[in-house]
Amino acid sequence: MRPRRLPPCLAATALSAALLLLVLLRTSSSSSSHAPLLAWPSSRHPTPPLPPAAARAEWGPSRPPSLAYWISGTGGDARRVLRLLRAVYHPRNRYLLHLDAGAAAEERQALAEAVRTEEPAWREFRNVDVVGDAYAVDRTGSSALAAVLHGAAVLLRRGPHWDWLVTLSAEDYPLVTQDDLLYAFSSVPRDLNFIDHTSDLGWKEHERFEKIIVDPSLYMDRNTEPILSKETRRMPDAFQIFTGSPWLILSRSFTEHCVHGWDNLPRKLLMYFANTAYSMESYFQTLICNSSDFRNTTVNGDLRYFVWDDPPGLDPLVLNESNFQNMVNSSAAFARRFEEDAPVLKKMDDELLNRSRVQLVPGVWCPNLGKEQREVDMDSCLKWGDINAVRPGPAGERLRRFISEISKTRGCGLAAS
Ligand SMILES: *[C@@H]1O[C@H](CO)[C@@H](O)[C@H](O)[C@H]1NC(C)=O
Ligand SMILES: *[C@@H]1O[C@H](CO)[C@@H](O)[C@H](O)[C@H]1NC(C)=O
Ligand SMILES: *[C@@H]1O[C@H](CO)[C@@H](O)[C@H](O)[C@H]1NC(C)=O
Ligand SMILES: *[C@@H]1O[C@H](CO)[C@@H](O)[C@H](O)[C@H]1NC(C)=O
Ligand SMILES: *[C@@H]1O[C@H](CO)[C@@H](O)[C@H](O)[C@H]1NC(C)=O
Repeated sequence: MRPRRLPPCLAATALSAALLLLVLLRTSSSSSSHAPLLAWPSSRHPTPPLPPAAARAEWGPSRPPSLAYWISGTGGDARRVLRLLRAVYHPRNRYLLHLDAGAAAEERQALAEAVRTEEPAWREFRNVDVVGDAYAVDRTGSSALAAVLHGAAVLLRRGPHWDWLVTLSAEDYPLVTQDDLLYAFSSVPRDLNFIDHTSDLGWKEHERFEKIIVDPSLYMDRNTEPILSKETRRMPDAFQIFTGSPWLILSRSFTEHCVHGWDNLPRKLLMYFANTAYSMESYFQTLICNSSDFRNTTVNGDLRYFVWDDPPGLDPLVLNESNFQNMVNSSAAFARRFEEDAPVLKKMDDELLNRSRVQLVPGVWCPNLGKEQREVDMDSCLKWGDINAVRPGPAGERLRRFISEISKTRGCGLAAS
C-alpha cells in the first residue's frame, strides 16, 4: 500500500497540534513536583532576563575561561555540598548540584532553598542549579556514569559559555582559589582533556573487564548494589580499553561529543560499559583514546591529590592535617577524601583559600569580601567587582607552571606489553 501523504496545510496543522501538545506537556510538568532543576527552574522562564551584573560577563579566548562543575553527593551531604560550592564559587562558572536517591526529597529542596537564599551572589548570577530528580546511583556501577552524562547534558544546555567540565563529589575540596584556577587554565588550549589513563590493565583485565555486572540502580528507585553475573566475557577487539582515575576535567567539545556526537563510538562504549564494574574509571578513558579526533587532546593527569593505602583499598585514604604540606606541594587543584567538618578543611580555608572570615572565596569579582565596612566584617559578597578578570597568587603561578608542563605530552601511549 502506498503511504498517503497529508496535504501540506493539514500536515502543518498536525505539526502545530503536536507542538502545542508538547508545550502543554512542558508547562504542566514544570508545575509538578518533578521539576528538572530546583533552584532556578528554566521551564517557567524560557529565557530569563540576565541580572545586570551577569550581563557584563565577557567570554572568549582573551578572557579567563569558565568551568562547569558537576558536584554530587548522597543522603546527608547537603551541608558538605554547600561548603564545597562556597569554596569553588566564581560568577564565571556554572554549577550543577546533585543529591542521589540516598537523599530525601526534603534535603534536595532544602539545598535548592539554600542556593536561592543564602548568598546574594548566587541570586545575582543564577549560575547554580540543583537537579530535581532523585535517581539512584551506585558508584561501582554504570548508574554513576549515567549520572555524570546527565549532568554534562544539563550543563551544556544551561551554560553556553563554559570551557571545561569538572567532576567533584561531596568528599572533595579545592587546593587553590578560583582566581588561581582560572588563571592557570587560561595558559593552555581550551580543547585539552585532563584524563588520567593507562592501557596497562593488570589485574583489572580479569576482575573488571572479563566479568559482567548488572547495576539495578539503573532501573530501581533506590541506590542498589550491583549484581555479579556468573557469565564472563572475552576482551573486546573492536577497541582498546584504557582505565584510570574516575575524576575528570573534560573540554566542552569532548563533552559535546560524548553527549550529542554523531559518531557511534560513545554509544557503543556506553552499551559495553553498562555491564562493567567501575565504568567511571574506563568509559571516558577508552572513548577518548580510541577517538582519532580527540586522542591528541588528552593530557594524562586529573589534577587531584589522593593517598592510597598499601595495599590500596577501594577508596583513597581520608586526609587530615598530616597530609597538608604534601597536598600543597603536589600542585594539584583538588584533593580528596575528607570527612565532614574535618579540621584540615578549616586549615585549607585559612591558609589556601583565604576564606577564614568570609563565606565565598575572595577574588577580583568581589572586592568587598573580608573588608570591614562600618566596623562589621563583610562575610558575604554584596558588590560586584570585575568578573572578567582574575588575580592569581603564588599558588596560581605554581599551578599554571604545572599544567603547562603536563600539557606538553598529549595523546594516549600504549603500555609496552
Ligand atoms: C583504539 O585505540 C587504540 C590506541 O589508542 C588505537 O590504536 C585504535 O586505532 C583505536 N581504535 C579505533 C577504532 O579508533
Ligand atoms: C595526533 O598526533 C599524531 C602524532 O603526533 C599525529 O601523527 C596525528 O596526525 C595527530 N592527529 C590529529 C587528528 O591531529
Ligand atoms: C591522619 O591520618 C593517618 C592515616 O591516614 C593517621 O595515621 C594519623 O593518625 C592521622 N592524624 C591525625 C592528626 O588525625
Ligand atoms: C614541600 O615543599 C617545600 C619547598 O619546596 C619543602 O621545603 C618541603 O619539605 C616540602 N614538604 C613536603 C612534606 O614534602
Ligand atoms: C585575603 O583576603 C583579603 C580580603 O579580601 C585581602 O585583603 C588579602 O589580600 C587576601 N590575602 C591573600 C593571601 O590573598
